[in-house]
Amino acid sequence: SQLLPLFGREPCTLAVLSARVGSIGDNRAGGWYGYRASKAALNMLLKCAAIELARRAPGVKLLAFHPGTVDTQLSRPFHANVPPGNVQSPELVADHLINLMNRLQPDGELSFLDWQGKPIEW
Ligand SMILES: NC(=O)c1ccc[n+]([C@@H]2O[C@H](COP(=O)([O-])OP(=O)(O)OC[C@H]3O[C@@H](n4cnc5c(N)ncnc54)[C@H](OP(=O)(O)O)[C@@H]3O)[C@@H](O)[C@H]2O)c1
Repeated sequence: SQLLPLFGREPCTLAVLSARVGSIGDNRAGGWYGYRASKAALNMLLKCAAIELARRAPGVKLLAFHPGTVDTQLSRPFHANVPPGNVQSPELVADHLINLMNRLQPDGELSFLDWQGKPIEW
């Protein structure tokens, strides 16, 4: 309800930084208890918001976005575990995100997509 007044009449997309580790179906390695749980909870919050927005602001598309591994302070301690070439710059991922947001249409659903636009299981 805090966001509702900010939405105009034009269709728009709201993207929130989630992560693949929040997927229960995709959890093959375990660990990361707090991070996984917080992203799974985020996705549930966004699902509730999508249902509410479909009623109250149907022009808004909601996206839970997985950016891949991005070269930031958060991921730096774990780069050794990531295959070479799989760490992306924030600028590149921002481009992917903008392109993806421009392609999405308001459909009353929450989408959980990675930086390539591929769906992630819940
Ligand atoms: N990096 C990755 O590989 C990766 C992968 C998947 C998902 N993500 C998600 O992408 C998002 C951004 O991650 P990142 O890699 O950019 O992390 P980061 O480099 O650690 O940046 C986190 C950002 O959040 C801000 N922040 C932290 N605590 C805050 C608070 N209590 N109130 C307000 N702002 C706060 C920080 O602000 P200050 O700079 O002012 O401290 C910083 O700008 C996160 O949700 C993360 O889970 C990242």
